[in-house]
Amino acid sequence: MTTTHKRLRDGRGREVSYLRLSVTDRCNLNCMYCRPKDKVPFIPHPDILRYEEMLDLVSLARDLGIAKVRLTGGEPFARRDIMVFIESLMGRYPELDLRLTTNATMLAGKPATLAALGVSAVNISCDTLDREKYARITGNDRLDAVRRAIDESLAAGLRVKINAVALRGINTDEVADFVRLAMQFPLDVRFIEFMPVGDGNLWKPENYISAQDVLELARGAAELTLETNPHETGGPAKMHRIAGGLGRFGVISPLSDHFCASCNRLRITADGKLRTCLFSEREFKLRPLLRNPKLGLPMVRRVIALALRDKPLGYEVLNPGATPEAREMSAIGG
Ligand code: 5AD
Repeated sequence: MTTTHKRLRDGRGREVSYLRLSVTDRCNLNCMYCRPKDKVPFIPHPDILRYEEMLDLVSLARDLGIAKVRLTGGEPFARRDIMVFIESLMGRYPELDLRLTTNATMLAGKPATLAALGVSAVNISCDTLDREKYARITGNDRLDAVRRAIDESLAAGLRVKINAVALRGINTDEVADFVRLAMQFPLDVRFIEFMPVGDGNLWKPENYISAQDVLELARGAAELTLETNPHETGGPAKMHRIAGGLGRFGVISPLSDHFCASCNRLRITADGKLRTCLFSEREFKLRPLLRNPKLGLPMVRRVIALALRDKPLGYEVLNPGATPEAREMSAIGG
C-alpha cells in the first residue's frame, strides 16, 4: 500500500486513485473489435499531448493523491521515445506505481529495462494463442513477438496480466488454452466482456458472451477458486486461483456485472481530454489549459475538481437503449 495523505473523492464519495493516461491513439495493430484498418483517422500530431505536458499532469495527479498511473494507447510503444519518457517519469517520481497496457508486439527487448526503471506491471492485450487467428483478429502476424515479450517480462520479474476480449465464436474455443497458459506460467489471464465502445458498428450481439459464461468454459478446464484476498483481487477483475497452477484466471464484466460503484479512475485521452467515465462521452479539454501560460496546471486542477463532481455511474450511461460511444477505444485508452 502507498501512503497517500490526501484522498481525492468524486461527487459520489468514490475515492479517485488511479489515472489512465493514453500516450498515443496510434497502433500498429488493427484489431477487429477496436480499430479496424483505415476506419478511424489518427489524431493530428500537434493535438497529441507532449511528454512534458504529461509529466506535468502526472505531477498534478500525485499532488491530488493519485499514486497509480497506467500508460495506455493506442499502443504506447508506437510512440517515439516512449522509453525516454518512462525513464524521466520514474526518474522524477521514483515511488510512482507505474504500469503499462500494451499489445506487446514491440515489447521484446525492453522488459528488463522497464523492470530496472521501476515499472511494476504490464497488461498485455492478446486475444488468441493461435498464430493464424491472431493475424486475422489484429491484421498482423505478430503472435511470436508477443510470446517472446511475455517470456521476457516474466523473466524480468514484471507482473504480467494477459487481457483477452471475449469474442463469442472467435476466441471462446480457446478459453481452456488460456487457462492452461495461466497454469503453466505465473501470470493472470483476464477475459474482458466485449463492450460497445467505438463507432458502434463493431459491436455485434452475436459476438458477445458474458463473463459468467466464460467462467463456465474455464471451469471445464480446471478447478477454479475465487480469489478473496482484497489485496490480490485485481480491481474490477474477478480472479480465480487455478488448482495446480502458477497463475490465475479471471473475468472482467463491465456489462453483465458492472463495477461502477468502486470505480477509482480518471482517464486522459491522447489529445489531452479528461474523461471521468469510459462510457460517458463527456470530456473536459485540458490541452488548451496546459498550453495557455495564464491558465496552466492551476486551471487543470480546477477542471478536474469540477469534472469529478459529476463523475457518472457508467451503467446509467450505458443503458440498453443508449447509443454506443462515438469515441474510439484507441483514443481513450481502454
Ligand atoms: N471491449 C472490451 N475490451 C476492449 N479492449 C479494446 N476494445 C475493447 C472492447 N470493445 C481492450 C483491449 C485492451 C484493454 C485496454 O481493452 O484489448 O486489452
